[in-house]
Amino acid sequence: MTNPKAPQEFDPREIITIDGPAASGKSTLAQRLAEALGYLYFDTGVMYRALTWLALQQGISVEDEETLTALAEKVPIEVTPPSKRDGRAYDVWIGDQDITWAIRHPQVDAYVSIVSSYPGVRRAMSLQQRRIGLRGKVVMVGRDIGTVVLPEAGIKIYLDASPEERARRRFKEMQARGEHVEYEEVLQSMRERDRIDSTRTVAPLRPAADAIRIDSNDKDIEQVLELVLHIVHSQKRENL
Ligand code: CDP
Repeated sequence: MTNPKAPQEFDPREIITIDGPAASGKSTLAQRLAEALGYLYFDTGVMYRALTWLALQQGISVEDEETLTALAEKVPIEVTPPSKRDGRAYDVWIGDQDITWAIRHPQVDAYVSIVSSYPGVRRAMSLQQRRIGLRGKVVMVGRDIGTVVLPEAGIKIYLDASPEERARRRFKEMQARGEHVEYEEVLQSMRERDRIDSTRTVAPLRPAADAIRIDSNDKDIEQVLELVLHIVHSQKRENL
């Protein structure tokens, strides 16, 4: 990857990465953390989801790596502050289409890991993510942020939980949105996505060597947030 160089005044302590498997609680943690610190919250999964949604809309096969790579290089994805109070943390747009909820559809879940396994797709997306990250004061969430996109980040979290617990959380979220799904289906689809994400050749899901690993099985969001805020504040003190 041809990474843009970090600017000189760059402070790695102001870049926080949160990686981990599906529904491990990354997005909620990142959102709360960013709010508490006055940082930008950026969820990179949205970009892969938006691209997958567009491919499905345009009838492009998820096997068509070449067309998907070309699409990734030009797709105008916009993430903006929430325009509606319907539980969204941000709006996601492609052109004038609000696709905030469409990208959460089970069909996108089923194909996003295949689309995001293509090296050209990852290159296009990672470059944009890195540019945003290097502006600093950011909490960036994904699968490869601490390992590939922003390896110089000062604080790297790897958030995990058992597949059953994660499927239970995702199932509850989907039910709350009025979607008719079975728990077993959610578990199945999530396991498959985890499998593809962690075995792909480029930027597989894995903790960075210097990541702090947190198991959220028996912790609620408040407990995880408290733990991470403690880490952030003690690192700031150490570096004074
Ligand atoms: O919210 P959830 O954890 O279910 O998924 P997400 O973060 O929205 O990511 C959806 C999919 O995009 C993942 O399963 C990965 O295949 C892909 N992804 C990736 O490859 N790299 C990232 N940095 C973020 C997401």
